[in-house]
Amino acid sequence: MKNFVFFACVLITTVCHSARLPPTFKKCNRNENGFNVCLSNAIEDAVRNLNKPYKEVGLPSLNPLQIPALTIEAGQGTVAFQQKYKNVTVWGFDKINCPKAEIDFEKRTIVVGCTTPLNKMEFYYAISGRILLLPIFGKGPGSITLENLNETFTFHFEEYEKKNKTHFKVVSTKITMEPGRITFNLENLFNGDKVLGDNVLRVMNENWKEVFEDVKASYEDAFGQVFAALFNNLLAKVPVEQIFDN
Ligand SMILES: *[C@@H]1O[C@H](CO)[C@@H](O)[C@H](O)[C@H]1NC(C)=O
Ligand SMILES: *[C@@H]1O[C@H](CO)[C@@H](O)[C@H](O)[C@H]1NC(C)=O
Ligand SMILES: *[C@@H]1O[C@H](CO)[C@@H](O)[C@H](O)[C@H]1NC(C)=O
Repeated sequence: MKNFVFFACVLITTVCHSARLPPTFKKCNRNENGFNVCLSNAIEDAVRNLNKPYKEVGLPSLNPLQIPALTIEAGQGTVAFQQKYKNVTVWGFDKINCPKAEIDFEKRTIVVGCTTPLNKMEFYYAISGRILLLPIFGKGPGSITLENLNETFTFHFEEYEKKNKTHFKVVSTKITMEPGRITFNLENLFNGDKVLGDNVLRVMNENWKEVFEDVKASYEDAFGQVFAALFNNLLAKVPVEQIFDN
């Protein structure tokens, strides 16, 4: 019966005004002592298991996560050019650990701290500029691997009423990304000049910290927007009364 209602809602979304979280999602009681611990487990569990889209609650698959286009703005020096990525696929959220989650209902803030052992982004890139003073240009397939990535997500939200139900809406987002190591792989650099391409990649990978530091804020911004949009899709569909268990 549960499944029937679930699928009926998918088909007749106009009848089921406010969506419910899929039954596999854990819920936490706001008045419970261990609320934050419950919340961090619930978030970790949800992210790890989102290996298919849940359209009825506005969520895409996170394992992997597909991003049609991603632009990383130029840095201040080391990477003084815009990076354009298309058809980005991000792997690795199925192994996420989120030991920290805190909601402050008065300040309307949620902070979540997570670690992923290995994230791999696969994409098509197009770049042209200078990196670590070396000229670089090219377009083609590529990947970036981030090892032991620590991430902190801070979302500020507002509350509003829709169809007599309370909803949250994320109004500002801050993400911090601290990777333990980054490996760049860009195929077809310099229109396929492999010797030159391999040399520049080697320099980039030896100096990954410096390279990332210069565009860190742009990465955090770009991913902040991606995750805020994801979260807002869910929050627009699922009222607060359905998210928590009390
Ligand atoms: C990117 O994805 C779109 C939509 O899935 C597809 O039409 C397009 O061919 C892809 N581009 C490349 C270069 O793979
Ligand atoms: C919302 O609640 C009020 C008061 O309980 C009621 O009069 C109204 O019909 C409800 N509106 C909807 C859309 O359910
Ligand atoms: C990630 O967090 C852990 C635990 O707080 C810490 O030991 C580690 O150094 C951090 N890694 C990076 C790259 O900041």
